[in-house]
Amino acid sequence: MKPVSIAIDGPSGAGKSTLARMTAKKLGYIYVDTGALYRTVGLFVLRRGVGTKDREGVAALLPEIRIEMAYDGAGVQRMLLNGEDVTDLIRTPEVSMAASDVSAIPAVRAFLLDTQRDMAKKHSVIMDGRDIGTVVLPQAQVKIFLTASAAERARRRWRELREKGIDTDYESVLRDIELRDRNDSSRDIAPLRPAPDAVMCDTTEHDLEASFGMICDIIRERTGDGL
Ligand code: DC
Repeated sequence: MKPVSIAIDGPSGAGKSTLARMTAKKLGYIYVDTGALYRTVGLFVLRRGVGTKDREGVAALLPEIRIEMAYDGAGVQRMLLNGEDVTDLIRTPEVSMAASDVSAIPAVRAFLLDTQRDMAKKHSVIMDGRDIGTVVLPQAQVKIFLTASAAERARRRWRELREKGIDTDYESVLRDIELRDRNDSSRDIAPLRPAPDAVMCDTTEHDLEASFGMICDIIRERTGDGL
């Protein structure tokens, strides 16, 4: 049977990864977190001391980067950077900002495109990111654009960071989110924007369970899949 692709795009903190993971589990699809690819490139660039906005400098580093996505026994995506497991190291605010910067560089996007498309060729996937429905998998059977207000997204992200023991204040999380929104939406290449055939899904007023219900409804409507 031909693999099915479901694309979930939207700004940082809208709940894409949690909801995509839940949906993938229910459908038996593979969840692909594409932000982790940009984060891994961001981490490498930071480590090498090259400016994350330096287009030529970053492009020159790409041949030295080998990224692999592996899945552990629990189906959790692990990121390998030249063989080193960096899954936990790519979740800091510093790497978030570096990922946003390097993701605006065309050479970086081209470098990561095949890795993403290859996953969808081999498996039924739920892929989350910013340009999955518009650029990476324009043929996806289901496209969802997941949003929430910046204030609500910042609140969720702040709580998440605190639970992980990362001490930070709400105001700086909100500033980061707003800055990344601007970066991700205003870049010339593959900017964050809904595909014309995407279904809009705003989770500001909805908790996780209700949001999951909305997503299941959309997928059921579009694919007739047994959710
Ligand atoms: O989803 P995330 O927060 O882990 O993504 C990190 C950064 O990577 C984000 O600021 C934008 C970028 N990104 C992208 O440009 N395209 C994608 N498909 C996924 C992420």
